[in-house]
Amino acid sequence: MSEIGCSIDKIETPALLIDLNVLERNIGRMSEYFSKVKSSLRPHAKTHKSPIIAHKQVKAGAIGVCCQKLGEAEVMLSAGIENIMITNQIVDPSKIKRLISISKHGRVIVAVDNLKVARATSEAALKAGIRQDVVIEVDVGLNRCGVDPGKPTLKFAEKLAEFKGLNITGLLGYEGPFFKIHDFEERRRAANQRNRLLIETRDLLEDAGFNIEIVSAGSTGTYNITGSYPGITEVEAGSYVFMDVTYKRLKNLPFELSLTLLSTVISRPKPDRAVIDAGLKSITQEFGLPVVKGIEGITLQKLSEEHGILKIEDPNVDLDIGDRIELIPTHCCTTVNLHDKYYCVRDGVLEAIWDIPARGKIR
Ligand SMILES: Cc1ncc(COP(=O)(O)O)c(C=O)c1O
Repeated sequence: MSEIGCSIDKIETPALLIDLNVLERNIGRMSEYFSKVKSSLRPHAKTHKSPIIAHKQVKAGAIGVCCQKLGEAEVMLSAGIENIMITNQIVDPSKIKRLISISKHGRVIVAVDNLKVARATSEAALKAGIRQDVVIEVDVGLNRCGVDPGKPTLKFAEKLAEFKGLNITGLLGYEGPFFKIHDFEERRRAANQRNRLLIETRDLLEDAGFNIEIVSAGSTGTYNITGSYPGITEVEAGSYVFMDVTYKRLKNLPFELSLTLLSTVISRPKPDRAVIDAGLKSITQEFGLPVVKGIEGITLQKLSEEHGILKIEDPNVDLDIGDRIELIPTHCCTTVNLHDKYYCVRDGVLEAIWDIPARGKIR
């Protein structure tokens, strides 16, 4: 049993740990930045999937949250987060009904990039007696969803304006995380190229008489670039609360690692091998193998379903069965999705256990 007040080494493993001091510093640093610029922070809750963390972000100044899935938005709204942007397309008729249903109880803005879907959303909204807030998703270079910037977006907006059940609030133009651009100046150039496209598109729409309240973009890797780009009104950074090995490679990010996976050594079959109780069902590896925290001379070599194989490179490393090993994920968002609970630690002591109610909400 992992009891509140116990030390880290008494927590049953595998367990997803949050270092609360670090989490709070990360939230504080991000909100300090946004207290000094014109744009606002609307953090992406797809990272933590936790209403408690969302409330901490809002208390620190965030205007609401972003969600990637309707199910996440339902969880956030029912936990009292009332200003939500779904940065994704909601297409199924049954999901559109769910969207309209939650929109009656809080501000929920949804991305659109297709007229057929927009018409169906408008009809459902009118039937329910509301107007559904939408942002037009613009593809500024991510090559995912979205209408092309410039005139195609203007044309799209003009058609959208015919749907009386919709309220066009602005544009969503997530420029990408730029994980691979470690250098800050290079990242700035790349992000601003895409931000320019988005703002030029906003100008076109405003010249045509549209009232653009929201221009949303940005990520943890570009918050301090996109956040001060003139015309951007809000930034969608998510990973900054936890960080991970991938984001730590980027220069000029003041955020620290607050999320680790606690595991236990369950076998020491060879002098140069230790096996831990954490595998692919506890931590993800789509951005590479996780990294061992705080111990030199040990590397994670392989993950299988429920085992992690550690190579002991330094024969002086003293590692016994029952010893604890913390792994740093290479992708925090997908790792969180594997867990039901956060084990929240402060100064080495378990302070709280938080549910992760939006975990697995992929519909
Ligand atoms: C639509 C959208 N906005 C923002 C983000 C930024 O998240 P992060 O700060 O974790 O990179 C993402 C990441 O995938 C995203 O898909």
